Amino acid sequence: MLYRIIASAALVATATAAVVTNYTSIVDPTNITIPSIPQTTAYDWQTACVAYEFPVPFDASEWPGDWLVATTNGMNETAEYQALYNSIDWTNVPQIPVRTALAQGELDTTGYDTVNDPDCWWSATGCVTPKVPGVLKDISACAEPDTWGLTYDDGPNCSHNAFYDFLQQQNLKASMFYIGSNVMNWPLGAQRGVRDGHHISVHTWSHPMMTSLNNQDALAELYYATKMIKYVTGLTPLYWRPPLGDVDDRIRWIATQLNLTAIIWNLDTDDWAAGTSVTVQQVQQNYQNFITMGTNGTFANTGNIVLSHELNNMTMGFAENYIPQIKQAYKNVVDVATCMNITNPYVENTVTFPVFASTSSGSNSSSTSGTSGTKSSGAAASSNNANAALIIVALFACFCYA
Ligand SMILES: *[C@@H]1O[C@H](CO)[C@@H](O)[C@H](O)[C@H]1NC(C)=O
Ligand SMILES: *[C@@H]1O[C@H](CO)[C@@H](O)[C@H](O)[C@H]1NC(C)=O
Ligand SMILES: *[C@@H]1O[C@H](CO)[C@@H](O)[C@H](O)[C@H]1NC(C)=O
Ligand SMILES: *[C@@H]1O[C@H](CO)[C@@H](O)[C@H](O)[C@H]1NC(C)=O
Ligand SMILES: *[C@@H]1O[C@H](CO)[C@@H](O)[C@H](O)[C@H]1NC(C)=O
Ligand SMILES: *[C@@H]1O[C@H](CO)[C@@H](O)[C@H](O)[C@H]1NC(C)=O
Ligand SMILES: *[C@@H]1O[C@H](CO)[C@@H](O)[C@H](O)[C@H]1NC(C)=O
Ligand SMILES: *[C@@H]1O[C@H](CO)[C@@H](O)[C@H](O)[C@H]1NC(C)=O
Ligand SMILES: *[C@@H]1O[C@H](CO)[C@@H](O)[C@H](O)[C@H]1NC(C)=O
Ligand SMILES: [Zn+2]
Repeated sequence: MLYRIIASAALVATATAAVVTNYTSIVDPTNITIPSIPQTTAYDWQTACVAYEFPVPFDASEWPGDWLVATTNGMNETAEYQALYNSIDWTNVPQIPVRTALAQGELDTTGYDTVNDPDCWWSATGCVTPKVPGVLKDISACAEPDTWGLTYDDGPNCSHNAFYDFLQQQNLKASMFYIGSNVMNWPLGAQRGVRDGHHISVHTWSHPMMTSLNNQDALAELYYATKMIKYVTGLTPLYWRPPLGDVDDRIRWIATQLNLTAIIWNLDTDDWAAGTSVTVQQVQQNYQNFITMGTNGTFANTGNIVLSHELNNMTMGFAENYIPQIKQAYKNVVDVATCMNITNPYVENTVTFPVFASTSSGSNSSSTSGTSGTKSSGAAASSNNANAALIIVALFACFCYA
């Protein structure tokens, strides 16, 4: 009885307390310098993917296991994680069952009521509007007409130098969904994403099907990936993308405790599966269809968000091949923060994004409207291949930033 009284008093106390996090960094996101070493410059993956020294002091024992669920390496028993977990009032977590993952990453949807979709389970129904009150609603399409929401998942990849140089030359910013384990392995790749002015968001620590995890594991996946991005880049993202889109209202509620809003998509290139479960020709056809949609009226009143990947040479190659045509077909090709007027996609206010303007970066027009995400985006000028016009655009963008 006494225990019960104490327990409910504690609950009342935690219900009003702020969630306890420990996001720290010594990195200034407005002043990132990438060392010029073969790993940061080479275009062949054998050279680029050689391990290097961490750019800031680093102790692997303070982080989850590499590509293992984020409660591993003792993280579930650290004082830090316990304090985080206990600072959340779990009495309100939606009572939604943990899903069962099948062999090939599929989820068992047997018995789920897809007609009423009580849990807004994206994997079962594509639902993006939560049923549970008080949880952050997904973003699934840019609201602006004729607008391509440019997004890349699964980075930073060690072999992204050619791709990031290309985006710089094209004066494009993308929403980049980074996996915590990849950031740990390739911290300079994540720093480059910030330096180039991309919109950095969270893609979990180890890329699990989130609805198949219990509350502890799901919280840890989001927390440690966010913490790693902050540790390495100085920025704490406020947006995330569930791996394979797998989210329901229980997972949204947990993400909401960390102030993370999900960004889904409404067009899927299937690039990651090219040559395996879908053919390369099918992925090329998908890109062609999405390009056609830019001119045949499909996006006359609203925009899209396109799922593509910074996964390997092939997926990055598709992007390079089709971006020139995409820019012809759409008025605007922009990151999701820009198309949705999210000027502050991070907790920190030192790096901001512009409000949407129809002549913004990546636009078919040659306007020089400033769309710089960071003070340091003048770095575009250092690229060998950038033509003079693009250098001028990049410098102008830099001055636009107050
Ligand atoms: C930027 O960083 C360099 C060293 O990395 C430092 O010397 C310089 O003072 C910094 N500049 C600003 C404006 O903080
Ligand atoms: C793919 O790899 C080749 C050979 O290493 C390289 O020249 C090319 O730039 C890479 N493409 C992309 C998009 O990374
Ligand atoms: C932490 O995880 C380990 C391994 O799964 C488990 O044995 C242990 O009971 C967990 N500790 C807590 C406090 O949940
Ligand atoms: C916070 O995180 C830093 C870096 O990971 C770590 O060194 C420190 O011990 C943590 N502090 C607490 C109170 O857990
Ligand atoms: C979430 O945002 C609220 C309001 O800005 C803030 O009070 C709270 O500390 C944030 N929580 C986390 C975990 O960052
Ligand atoms: C636009 O093109 C797409 C892809 O080819 C097609 O699926 C869609 O039906 C077209 N819409 C209109 C209005 O023609
Ligand atoms: C990064 O890309 C290379 C090839 O470009 C690929 O071999 C490697 O598996 C990728 N790494 C990750 C972690 O996805
Ligand atoms: C983009 O520019 C090209 C040539 O400059 C033009 O033919 C095309 O109609 C433009 N597309 C849009 C969507 O404005
Ligand atoms: C973004 O801001 C612009 C300029 O204020 C406005 O015209 C537009 O409707 C806004 N778009 C969204 C999606 O909020
Ligand atoms: Zn992914």
